[in-house]
Amino acid sequence: MTVGMPIRRLWPAPSTQPLDDTALTGLYGRADEPHLRVNFVASLDGAVTVDGYSAGLSGEPDKRVFGLLRMVCDALVVAAGTLRHEGYRAVRLDERRRAWRRANGLAEYPTLVVVSGSLDLDPAQAAFADAPTRPVVLTHADAEPPPGLTDVADVLSCGTERVDLAAGLAELHRRGLTQLLCEGGPHLLGALTAADLVDELCLTVAPLLAGPGPGRITAGDAAPPRHLPLRHVLAADDGVLLLRHARSGDLSR
Ligand SMILES: NC(=O)c1ccc[n+]([C@@H]2O[C@H](COP(=O)([O-])OP(=O)(O)OC[C@H]3O[C@@H](n4cnc5c(N)ncnc54)[C@H](OP(=O)(O)O)[C@@H]3O)[C@@H](O)[C@H]2O)c1
Repeated sequence: MTVGMPIRRLWPAPSTQPLDDTALTGLYGRADEPHLRVNFVASLDGAVTVDGYSAGLSGEPDKRVFGLLRMVCDALVVAAGTLRHEGYRAVRLDERRRAWRRANGLAEYPTLVVVSGSLDLDPAQAAFADAPTRPVVLTHADAEPPPGLTDVADVLSCGTERVDLAAGLAELHRRGLTQLLCEGGPHLLGALTAADLVDELCLTVAPLLAGPGPGRITAGDAAPPRHLPLRHVLAADDGVLLLRHARSGDLSR
């Protein structure tokens, strides 16, 4: 069933017919191995926000793929900065997407994983307080949880003084959360790039010149460049491009 604005594949093997949700899900499936997928939207001139938020860059085709990526993951990893700034709510999926997860042997909802060095987190934020699955917070041994946080989330210390992201991801894998979707933000992507932990980047390019001012999808300390081959290019009728770059082209389902 095609929903909303048509999305077609431009490369490889152009499709003349719009991709329905089943075809799109197949293009963004799950890998056999532990896999970290990162998803961002940016303007043509590389801005990560318009007026301070990603919403100004995201239209219906981006939201459709955004929802499908949430549907196929085990855990949704987000930096505390983005969680706070974008006012993350509890991760919910509609019945159709929950049914897909059940049919594929997955938990009803993905687990929310928040990365924070300061633990300046509000346990009353809906992302924690209303979560259908108990969230995980990845932090380090020197951070002190605020009152109430351990009531609503598993707080895991990975590293001292700073979060050891490789150790944090390994702990998620041990918990059976192997297919990870990171929704940002820029400082977390910068740190994941520096640690060479990014297996895939899904980038929506909005046909918009945002102008000077906003940052890029990555931020933080300099890191060596990482090669990430192009795997597909999709286009929506409004001119939005949906790029998928990944280390490996293999997805099992
Ligand atoms: N266009 C898009 O697709 C998109 C996606 C996501 C976000 N955004 C935008 O990005 C902006 C937020 O960016 P931001 O600069 O705040 O970056 P961020 O990466 O979202 O948040 C930075 C904060 O997250 C935590 N964090 C990130 N990496 C960490 C690491 N390696 N170890 C420990 N903690 C880590 C820290 O939180 P603590 O302070 O708690 O230690 C840090 O202060 C917002 O404007 C948002 O709208 C855009």
